[in-house]
Amino acid sequence: MRTTLVRNIASLVTNDPERGDGPLGLVEDAALVIEGERIAWAGRTAEAPDADDVVDARGRAVIPGFVDSHSHLVFAGDRTQEFNARMSGRPYQAGGIRTTVTATRGASDEALGANVARYLAEALRQGTTTQETKSGYGLTVEDEARALRIAAEHTDEVTYLGAHIVAPEYADDPAAYVALVTGEMLDACAPYARWIDVFCEKGAFDGDQARAVLTAGRAKGLLARVHANQLTYGPGVQLAVELDAASADHCTHLTDADVDALANSTTVATLLPGAEFSTRAQWPDARRLLDAGATVALSTDCNPGSSFTSSMPFCIALAVRDMGMTPDEALWSATAGGAAALRRTDIGRLTPGARADLAFLDALSHVHLAYRPGVPLVGEVWRAGRRV
Ligand code: NIG
Ligand code: FE
Repeated sequence: MRTTLVRNIASLVTNDPERGDGPLGLVEDAALVIEGERIAWAGRTAEAPDADDVVDARGRAVIPGFVDSHSHLVFAGDRTQEFNARMSGRPYQAGGIRTTVTATRGASDEALGANVARYLAEALRQGTTTQETKSGYGLTVEDEARALRIAAEHTDEVTYLGAHIVAPEYADDPAAYVALVTGEMLDACAPYARWIDVFCEKGAFDGDQARAVLTAGRAKGLLARVHANQLTYGPGVQLAVELDAASADHCTHLTDADVDALANSTTVATLLPGAEFSTRAQWPDARRLLDAGATVALSTDCNPGSSFTSSMPFCIALAVRDMGMTPDEALWSATAGGAAALRRTDIGRLTPGARADLAFLDALSHVHLAYRPGVPLVGEVWRAGRRV
């Protein structure tokens, strides 16, 4: 197989502490060898082996491609008015999801697919090489299955979120909607999905309903993740830990017991600062989670209601400025943390055997992602060993 040597990297984040300094496994004056789709070697340029082709990084930083483990890209329509109203003081409410459900049901397959492709391309330009995405704006058997079929045409990390809110048709009979989500809808959706998710929150699903949804999904072979503790305190985080969910997402309102539970589990706390930005809510306390020993991931939550950004660099900057993370911690959480939230070991690091997913930054180091917020620093992006 052909090999490519990337040399003259000012600083390389490997996320392999045995390969370089600190938890990021940082190597200065570094090089990488890519063989096919994988990393074959990483270290200092002076020690690099020969390869068939040579690429000069021209003194830029190289990081693993971002792993965005939480987004809602299968949707139609726009909620500019709702955003405007919030910025004039109105609170965010889960009920706004209905606006997008109506628009999504009315859209063609082609329009939905084009939307997914558009936001994936937008994310890729900003360094995201793995993107999870969810259903949740269909809320009928046909519309949820269609959303997942379309999502699966674009990414392997697909999540069934029939339990986003109770479908409007079932407003008077939520139990019947839970029965649908855990029965016929699950049967139709499971073939397209790897994950099952539920919005466990006031105005969406309570702890018992969320448990029923996740348990049914697991019985069908799906792995659990949970929208937990976003708008208020609640049972979501504890449920995620109890059911060994890969991730509890949002984690904005946490008791000490919630933090302890996360710290003593393999459930990742996925923080979504774009949502707090766009809903003017309190920031999740990443420092508290990290100090307790929890694994933290950062993701965009890209959706038209609560967080309409596809930009992982933007989320990193917010996490550093407002959530108590260091630039190193935020970079780790946006790459290796996202991989952990997807229970993946082949991505999120640049070490032999890992997939060669990487971003070149027009900067000397990854710290600039927070130090120079809003500046398009992601230059080239490579996925599976190829420039994209
Ligand atoms: O993760 N919280 C639930 N779902 C999305 C918001 C969806 C919407 O408002 O359309 C979220 O923030
Ligand atoms: Fe979400």
